[in-house]
Amino acid sequence: MLNPGATTGPIGDLRRSIGSLPSSKIREVAHLGMGRDDVIPLWFGESDLPTPRFICDAAARALAAGDTFYQPNAGIAELRSTLAEYMNRLYGTQLTLHNVIVSASGMNALMLVMQSLIDPGDLVVTTTPAWPNLPAVPRILTGAIREVPLSPSNSGWRLDLDRLLDACDDRTRVIFLNSPNNPTGWMMAAEQQKAVLEFARRRGIWIVSDEVYARVVYDRATAPSFLEQALPDDRLIVVNSFSKTWSMTGWRLGWITVPAGLGPAFEMLTEYNIAGPAGFIQRAGVVAVRDGEACVQETVERYRSARDLVVERIARMPRMRLPTPDAAFYAFIRVDGMTDSVAFAKDLLAHTGVGLAPGAAFGDGSDDFLRLCFAASLPKLEEALDRIETFMRRA
Ligand SMILES: Cc1ncc(COP(=O)(O)O)c(C=O)c1O
Repeated sequence: MLNPGATTGPIGDLRRSIGSLPSSKIREVAHLGMGRDDVIPLWFGESDLPTPRFICDAAARALAAGDTFYQPNAGIAELRSTLAEYMNRLYGTQLTLHNVIVSASGMNALMLVMQSLIDPGDLVVTTTPAWPNLPAVPRILTGAIREVPLSPSNSGWRLDLDRLLDACDDRTRVIFLNSPNNPTGWMMAAEQQKAVLEFARRRGIWIVSDEVYARVVYDRATAPSFLEQALPDDRLIVVNSFSKTWSMTGWRLGWITVPAGLGPAFEMLTEYNIAGPAGFIQRAGVVAVRDGEACVQETVERYRSARDLVVERIARMPRMRLPTPDAAFYAFIRVDGMTDSVAFAKDLLAHTGVGLAPGAAFGDGSDDFLRLCFAASLPKLEEALDRIETFMRRA
């Protein structure tokens, strides 16, 4: 909590859903090591390489040309059309710019989507472990969350579909899924997506699908998307981001794919939030999508080598278990006998200078896990893994 127990003073005077927001357990560990030269930080979810040069150049060119003015609420038409064509190429869909709303990041997209769907008390059914921001959004909007656990196994993570559907009741407004998944690397199969879509269609429930890791996949061009299964009028909203695919975390650029009839409502809603991202950033977004395909493939190859190294090294370490992640750039490592992942991550940081995210950050039931982001160079990962191995052999 921001300030547990503070019922008076400024914090006690905020809306209850804000005053009771949990502070980030990832940052709780990271604060102890940020700024230290000897630390290898693998706690946050981003590449250690800057955005490719040709994308930065496009932003600089747009700025130099005077692109500093207000923009259309739903985003510039060129970016909306470019994104529609990109998804049509990937998924065989027939989307147009009317299906696409540009947002200032995936996070902003999630907030806009939930603002448009959640009334107080509405239930959102989702899976856990989850990136902590996902369950926070409905809570901020005074909705309720019901979490269905994914199950770990030696060969990867699984979703029990019956459990997910059984968790939906009359109060359920949204089924909220994140595949490829942060932190587990779980990727939902197309058949499961089809079954969820048919169920939601029958029950009049919305599906919100967070597909920001869609391109960070290792045995295909893209992860299965709900867009491939959906009819034009299905209650489906897909959230996406430039952060992971084009290494643009700091730019804050994302997009939302909606049934065409919803476009005007979202256009109005963005007016009261950010009224669209900066024009020069959107211009860079056009260039990233249009000219960035070779770069996406290179980036994924880099992550594949990193993933293979991490899986191979972790398999040899005492007490640690890691199924090979199918997608995303996280190793979600189970540590036998660990009961307090925050304390363990702090201890690991203090003794080795390696910064990992504690499993507890990703929901109840994940306190025996640590998350390592492997979107880093091989030498850096080798060094981090050497240090972790020495620590685990002593611990
Ligand atoms: C599952 C998931 N969704 C959405 C986001 C948001 O990404 P951004 O706000 O950088 O676009 C993240 C970032 O880590 C994520 O892991």
